[in-house]
Amino acid sequence: MAMQIVISVQFLILAVLMLVMGSNAGGIAIYWGQNGNEGTLAETCATGNYEFVNIAFLSTFGGGQKPVMNLAGHCDPSSNGCTGLSSNITSCQAKGIKVMLSIGGGGNRSLNSPDDARQVVTYLWNNFLGGGKNSSLRPLGPAVLDGIDFDIEGGTGLYWDDLARYLSAYSNQGRKVYLTAAPQCPFPDASLGVALKTGLFDYVWVQFYNNPPCQYNPSELSNLEEAWKQWTSEIPATKIFLGLPASPEAAGSGFIPVANLTCNVLPAIKRSNKYGGVMLWSKYYDDQTGYSSSIKTDV
Ligand SMILES: *[C@@H]1O[C@H](CO)[C@@H](O)[C@H](O)[C@H]1NC(C)=O
Ligand SMILES: *[C@@H]1O[C@H](CO)[C@@H](O)[C@H](O)[C@H]1NC(C)=O
Ligand SMILES: *[C@@H]1O[C@H](CO)[C@@H](O)[C@H](O)[C@H]1NC(C)=O
Ligand SMILES: *[C@@H]1O[C@H](CO)[C@@H](O)[C@H](O)[C@H]1NC(C)=O
Repeated sequence: MAMQIVISVQFLILAVLMLVMGSNAGGIAIYWGQNGNEGTLAETCATGNYEFVNIAFLSTFGGGQKPVMNLAGHCDPSSNGCTGLSSNITSCQAKGIKVMLSIGGGGNRSLNSPDDARQVVTYLWNNFLGGGKNSSLRPLGPAVLDGIDFDIEGGTGLYWDDLARYLSAYSNQGRKVYLTAAPQCPFPDASLGVALKTGLFDYVWVQFYNNPPCQYNPSELSNLEEAWKQWTSEIPATKIFLGLPASPEAAGSGFIPVANLTCNVLPAIKRSNKYGGVMLWSKYYDDQTGYSSSIKTDV
């Protein structure tokens, strides 16, 4: 009798383990940096809700321009006021969270040539990645970020593949430089389409918002499903994420209520083994709705 109980408890544990492993569990990526009222980076990571944090944004770069970082009300990079973020970054990384620098954001950016791309990469390497660690000029201090997130909207679409190749080559220096991107869901993305085909991107969070033709529509899930299929089958990235606004106010369109996401959308997109989870714009809006806390166990 006792023997039987022991065996069935073991069986139960095994069954639960198999269920968890087979459920294709994903993670949540969040953008942080564009609203001073969203808590510190360390607090963001301490929620335990996120697997990736994208620091937004390095807003100006390329074309020989002096790079400019913008962190809204958090701190002022131009007066060297953000180096204190370094300890926040390392505290996030100590929790296993990958911290990315997001380059771009809304607005028009372009690279002029492969050489221009190379110069931007040299700047990124020395100021945010493994190079120039002892420089007092690093905007976020000595912490080494996990990689670069491409949030490129508008512009010509040229040379972003070069940027990806040059960045990726630095992975040979002993520490991987992760590459992520936030393209728009109409396929292929006008700015990043060519770069994403290089196969150098690890995680791609596709913006299924501000894009009515492919975003969620309760009466017609097939639009989103078709777009999802195209991204997961045609982009050679490690994982694809569903990018969403964390509140109705966070975007012009595309917000999905929690129940619709967890009951309708996630079960459909999780069938793909390229499914990586959900990306949210942004920490500020997530604080208003508690969206990540509500969806976390279903992601
Ligand atoms: C995070 O940065 C803030 C300043 O922005 C600082 O007060 C706090 O101590 C830092 N926290 C950690 C864990 O590094
Ligand atoms: C950076 O500083 C550390 C500690 O002061 C030192 O050990 C290291 O050699 C320096 N690295 C470079 C590239 O200057
Ligand atoms: C974007 O910027 C480039 C160069 O700065 C310019 O040629 C182009 O017209 C701009 N495009 C838009 C849509 O503003
Ligand atoms: C959520 O799904 C319900 C049906 O289950 C639908 O009536 C409602 O419009 C959906 N909400 C949104 C915002 O899509």
